[in-house]
Amino acid sequence: MTDKYRPLKDALGRFATGIAVAACRNGDGEIKALTINSFTSVSLDPPLVLWCLENRASSYSSFMSADAYSVNVLRADQRQVSDHFAGFLPDPIGEEGFEAWKTGAPVLKEHLAAFDCKIVARHDAGDHVVLVGAVEQFSCNEGKPLIYYASNYYQGTD
Ligand SMILES: Cc1cc2nc3c(=O)[nH]c(=O)nc-3n(C[C@H](O)[C@H](O)[C@H](O)COP(=O)(O)O)c2cc1C
Repeated sequence: MTDKYRPLKDALGRFATGIAVAACRNGDGEIKALTINSFTSVSLDPPLVLWCLENRASSYSSFMSADAYSVNVLRADQRQVSDHFAGFLPDPIGEEGFEAWKTGAPVLKEHLAAFDCKIVARHDAGDHVVLVGAVEQFSCNEGKPLIYYASNYYQGTD
């Protein structure tokens, strides 16, 4: 079956991005997380970030009712983590791969950078919702980034 969105996806995919995992806890305290590349910075003062969640994602209702999320920027050697949270591979890390920071959202212990955010706005936008977060705590490490370009993964330089 042909994908009618392929031409648009191909053009959008020419914008190289990093790869991150966005995570929250649902009402039962379970971790809900997915691989994203829609993460972007918004404001420095106050510190705001955003990412876009597809309306059909199984974690949609969890992120819509959560108070906080984390965004975890992946290193080049975390391809398996990306594949798992995109739904393609078994879990390589488990619950013990996460820890709680200021907001209580689950933060990946291993990351190139991580942002612990309070959700301050949700904006409907077509088949996605834009989730704006106020950064309450963050961390930045040395290392190579995992890069996504034209539907392929690449390793950045450090
Ligand atoms: C490289 C890459 C980037 C992605 N970026 C996003 C994104 O920004 N927002 C989103 O909602 N889904 C994004 N996805 C898709 C989700 O990771 C995927 O739909 C989700 O893990 C599937 O969850 P579900 O099957 O539990 O609904 C991306 C997937 C990949 C492989």
